[in-house]
Amino acid sequence: MTEPLIIGAMVRTLGAYPSGWRQPGAHRDPAADADILRRIAREGEDAGLDYLFFGDWLATGPDLEFRDPYLLARIDPVSAVLFLAGITSRIGLIATVNTTYADPYSTARSLASLDVLTRGRAGVNLVTGAEPRAAGNHGRDAHADNETRYDRAEEFVTALRRLWDSWSDDAWIADAARGVLIDPEGLRAADLVGERVRVTGPLNVARPPQGQIPIVHAGTSPRSRALAATQADLALIAAPNLADAIATRAGLRDIAAESGRSPDEVKVIAPVLPVVADTDAEAHRIVERLLALVPLAEGHQTTRTAFPPNRTVDALADTLGVAADDPLRAAAFDQPVTADDAARLGEVGAALVERVSRIAGVGVSAGDPLTWRHLVAAHAVPAAFVVGDARTIADHFETWRDEGAADGFNVLSAFQPAQFEAFTRIAAPELRRRGLLAPDADRSGETLRDRLRVTSRVDA
Ligand SMILES: Cc1cc2nc3c(=O)[nH]c(=O)nc-3n(C[C@H](O)[C@H](O)[C@H](O)COP(=O)(O)O)c2cc1C
Repeated sequence: MTEPLIIGAMVRTLGAYPSGWRQPGAHRDPAADADILRRIAREGEDAGLDYLFFGDWLATGPDLEFRDPYLLARIDPVSAVLFLAGITSRIGLIATVNTTYADPYSTARSLASLDVLTRGRAGVNLVTGAEPRAAGNHGRDAHADNETRYDRAEEFVTALRRLWDSWSDDAWIADAARGVLIDPEGLRAADLVGERVRVTGPLNVARPPQGQIPIVHAGTSPRSRALAATQADLALIAAPNLADAIATRAGLRDIAAESGRSPDEVKVIAPVLPVVADTDAEAHRIVERLLALVPLAEGHQTTRTAFPPNRTVDALADTLGVAADDPLRAAAFDQPVTADDAARLGEVGAALVERVSRIAGVGVSAGDPLTWRHLVAAHAVPAAFVVGDARTIADHFETWRDEGAADGFNVLSAFQPAQFEAFTRIAAPELRRRGLLAPDADRSGETLRDRLRVTSRVDA
């Protein structure tokens, strides 16, 4: 039988779509993050998802309000997973750590602690970071270049692996009668003297229950792919469409094989943003509302200097190559896009019109008219939308698995908690019925490694 997919939740409390927080009932107060995190964790665990995943970003600024508002203010990922460790019992907990700025010993220690405290449910997502402002927050003059960051990331992984192997499995003896607590021979130094990472060890936390904690790597560059394919258990990829994902996954598997690993040792995970409702039409209406609430240049640009420049009809026309003197450049946001307008938008424009019709149920000649607002918003804020009822969502997941595009998905929710709960309550049962989501058996006692079917590097 084909294996189920690996399915985890990529948790962004403010919602993963920039206008998600503006939806009725959406969580929008970071001071109440404890409540929403608790609710999401219980929901994800009850639905039988494999893990909760927390990204990270090491700086903030007013520009993020319109670009990625969820990055403005949020709980640090290691704190989030430690908070959830005590109120969950089965689901995996994956925190992102930035190898450019983090200290390997502290990282090995906090993750090993999480693993001990959760009895083997810890995972770490290693990134090298794409935010230049992070440098200033960590006493550096500039964000290091790609080569330097990945040189350090590779040594960082070696440091983690060695530190998690500090204690052999039988080093802790605790023989009260003989008065022997440990076997000193079972305690090993890390002794890593690299170009960018040095650490002596051993680690002052007991051997993690998983031995080696599952490592995820998220990135896109060639160095990132090499790191993921040779070192990571899970590769979190950028997957703009099915063809790209198939090519990326095949490439990662080739690099893994060339390095002497089995290609199956690296599981490829794609982000996806399902907008779920009881019917396709209802789901389309949710996306239509999301698009309608993306802030466009309706006066913002005069008061907000950080407002993105791509939020006008004119800017869209520029990217689509529309003639400079075409009067459609002056269209109002709420004016319908006519068939004649659409014909002037070229191939890229036609694809955009088709995409907006598919996700929002509006069209050039449909009952619900496609407006410039829909087009500008969808173009300015790309998202991995899959929109529809349980069947539509499950069809997408199934196609991606069967076509070899992904071994699993990181599920984003446009707004919390309604869209996450729509996924777990409407889509998840259908995914399970089709064998795409692991069966709802008693999974207590299973580690994250078990759930992810990680096979490599189990021994100290
Ligand atoms: C799906 C996905 C999620 C990511 N999440 C994060 C994140 O939460 N924090 C972060 O600093 N980097 C994250 N990254 C990685 C950076 O964005 C990445 O370093 C950047 O794209 C530069 O690419 P490179 O590292 O391959 O050079 C993510 C990447 C992908 C593909």
